[in-house]
Amino acid sequence: MYQTFMRSVCKKNQTVSDGTMNAHSLAAGAGSDAWAGVPAAFREGGPLPAPWHEFFGPLRTGLRDELMVVGQLGQSLDGRIATNTGHSQYINCAAGLDHLHRLRALMDAVVIGIGTVLADNPQLTVRRVAGPNPARVILDPHGRLPPDARVLTADGARRVVVTTPEAACAVADQIEVVRLAADKGHIAPATVLAALAARGLHRILIEGGARTVSGFMSAGCLDRLHVMVAPIILGTGRAGISLAPIDRVDHALRPPTRAYPIGEDVLFDCDLSAARVPIGRAKIST
Ligand SMILES: NC(=O)c1ccc[n+]([C@@H]2O[C@H](COP(=O)([O-])OP(=O)(O)OC[C@H]3O[C@@H](n4cnc5c(N)ncnc54)[C@H](OP(=O)(O)O)[C@@H]3O)[C@@H](O)[C@H]2O)c1
Repeated sequence: MYQTFMRSVCKKNQTVSDGTMNAHSLAAGAGSDAWAGVPAAFREGGPLPAPWHEFFGPLRTGLRDELMVVGQLGQSLDGRIATNTGHSQYINCAAGLDHLHRLRALMDAVVIGIGTVLADNPQLTVRRVAGPNPARVILDPHGRLPPDARVLTADGARRVVVTTPEAACAVADQIEVVRLAADKGHIAPATVLAALAARGLHRILIEGGARTVSGFMSAGCLDRLHVMVAPIILGTGRAGISLAPIDRVDHALRPPTRAYPIGEDVLFDCDLSAARVPIGRAKIST
């Protein structure tokens, strides 16, 4: 990981000296003109202009099946995604936020847990960049979603509430309500993804919070994990990814990982496809 990081830092320096394409230009040189045609080209399957192909090309389609599921978290150097009060806006720098909005613009749907809605009241739009707003999906098994939450704003994007058969769900008629069986309030992540795929949503960004991303990761339901690390130290606060405990460092997951400087932040793009469970029509055998 450290070597990968250092390679990226060197690449960044190389950009300054010779102007070759790399992730630094992906962040800093991404003017609106350069980006404008990318969301359509990404969906049509043609070549993506530099510098986008290197980074976004692998997100077009999954290796396992027709779904591509990306988990993403922004965190501090000490692995926190929010303070103890739940404040997290904004851990990442402006270039990191632009990048997140570009990522949203390439996805069919963005999924968040109800904890994030209640803490942040996010919009989940692509307002910082050109591109279509993805469907907004909220996991709310106990019917806690406020009807005036900003994710439910009628702006043309699909809005989907995933809940359980028993939960109250008082939302406007235009909002899709998907009721899925749960075990003590927990809906299997693969069941969520299959339900979204059945509704035409195949490229999925699991955008938080930590409980939601960790749940999808431990269920083998992520193709990739994007961790955007900001050079800040919160010292205490809410942890990022939390998985079942391990006893030894050599039992740690070591997924193939690429690292990119994006503004002041560093994005780690981890390939988890080897551990992804099949959800749609399988492309490779397990
Ligand atoms: N830095 C970042 O990138 C980032 C991003 C997003 C959020 N955040 C921060 O993270 C905090 C919120 O995160 P969080 O981990 O507490 O909450 P969360 O992940 O946003 O929401 C967790 C809740 O969503 C529901 N849920 C998630 N997966 C489910 C599943 N498979 N089946 C059924 N229900 C499911 C459950 O609701 P019930 O509780 O009703 O069972 C669960 O407790 C906030 O402080 C926010 O600011 C940071």
